[in-house]
Amino acid sequence: MLDKTKFGWWKSAVFYQIYPKSFQDSDGDGLGDIPGIISRLDYLETLGVDGVWLSPVCASPQADNGYDISDYRAIWPPFGTLRDMERLIAEAKKRGISIIMDLVLNHTSDEHPWFREALRGRDNPYHDYYVWRDGTPDCPPNDMRACFGGPAWEYVPELQQYYFHQFAVKQPDLNWDNPQVRRELYDMIRFWVDKGVEGFRLDVIDQIAKEPDRKITARGPRLHEYVRELSANAFLEPGLVTVGEAWSADPEEAKRWSARDGSELSMVFQFEHITLDQGPEKWDVRPLELVKLKRCLERWQRELHGQGWNSLFLNNHDLPRIVSRWGDPGKYRVQSAKCLAALLHGLEGTPYIYQGEELGMTNIPLALEDYEDLETVNMIAERREKGFSDGEILASARARSRDNARTPMQWDDSKNAGFTTGTPWFFGNPNYREINAAAALRDPESVFWFYRRLIALRKELAVLREGDFALLCPEDPAVFAYVRRTAREKLLVVCNMTGNEQAFAGPPEFASGRLLLSNYEDDRKTPGLLRPWETRMEYLEG
Ligand code: GLC
Repeated sequence: MLDKTKFGWWKSAVFYQIYPKSFQDSDGDGLGDIPGIISRLDYLETLGVDGVWLSPVCASPQADNGYDISDYRAIWPPFGTLRDMERLIAEAKKRGISIIMDLVLNHTSDEHPWFREALRGRDNPYHDYYVWRDGTPDCPPNDMRACFGGPAWEYVPELQQYYFHQFAVKQPDLNWDNPQVRRELYDMIRFWVDKGVEGFRLDVIDQIAKEPDRKITARGPRLHEYVRELSANAFLEPGLVTVGEAWSADPEEAKRWSARDGSELSMVFQFEHITLDQGPEKWDVRPLELVKLKRCLERWQRELHGQGWNSLFLNNHDLPRIVSRWGDPGKYRVQSAKCLAALLHGLEGTPYIYQGEELGMTNIPLALEDYEDLETVNMIAERREKGFSDGEILASARARSRDNARTPMQWDDSKNAGFTTGTPWFFGNPNYREINAAAALRDPESVFWFYRRLIALRKELAVLREGDFALLCPEDPAVFAYVRRTAREKLLVVCNMTGNEQAFAGPPEFASGRLLLSNYEDDRKTPGLLRPWETRMEYLEG
């Protein structure tokens, strides 16, 4: 087992993200909850993950599914109690699983007592906890837009002021320039560390140091100063793992974030690779050009090797399902899910698996009126106003809506896929009779067991953890192949990223390599030819 008191243990770890609302209901109210998660810890232990990143479980009016917190020290009642949370932490720890909480530090809910106080008057001590500017109803401070659509300024007539919100109206931005705000947040973090939480995912952390007068949101001038202060005051234990969500990060920035002296965070989520298949907006869907993906991942691998640390992911609660996005959700669903998994888990960094990814779960085909996520709902309204046809809007939503990731977890083929005995809060994917955990556990060739093997390999092979990265055939539009190397070991990862056979000649030295893993049962190795979505990992000593 990993020694989690040591700085850097996460470099050998694999994490699993849970979206609590959609994971497992225990009391029949149709919403996932913490006792439900506890009941599924054995499943996660079987998978072999070292930690769970829990999307927010704190008290919240749920305007953004918990990313709008009204009390940082309480659990949202439908999810359970503080006791349940303590039990989750303890039960997970028994199974070698760390609990990593989601810290939403850029904003609170407008129902947080701080904001309610702030509304009482300009002289209220909490007023300066948020970002205010004077204005008149028809003249906002500037024309900045919120990430979820609409203006970033909301007028409060009683104060004759606007408050700033980078996300929804119900998510007012905290004022990080106020040292009292920062201290409150550090105290709150220590509250959770004292409860046994072993790490944090930091929501939109690159947006905390905003300067709206200069229209700066991400990467404000004081950003790294604040993050270093946060780390020095709140992340005291060397074993705490911290991962920041940083849409603005390039490799140079990521090196700072994941500085090896531990002065900032353990690592960040960057999004360059996962936004390669879109136009100016995420809803403008473009096909993925594999050559671009290779170039992008190669750069991140090369630049951070020995200088920082990568996080590795293809899915999360904000992204559509990767099998539907870059794989084949139809005929080659299983092969393509495994192929994408091998591609990612062969890289240097810490992999994150999003609930259901280990089953090869797919996007859900909803109707326009069925979308629930506020980002999608806002997009539908905005694009209708701009004259897009419903057909175009639906195509975007089906390809990119966050709701694709938020359908209930598919546990078995019983009613509601075993997620709840009540009425689920959101649509389940109709394909649950075929795609579910119980079926996957029974089938040795399932996506689940492939993930388990990948996770185990990271523990077994130093080359997976430490090896450098050399891209093969960079201009090949169909095959993604690379070699990881240490002085003593070599690992070849080959992925045919298409549903057709592809020619591929591996490096000759691997002729004597050992096949560690592949996604075709029979090892019919026609030299120089890869089958549809075929992936292979080959190993060589010396
Ligand atoms: C992050 C979260 C997303 C949330 C947003 C605002 O991007 O991942 O789910 O809506 O921040 O908190």
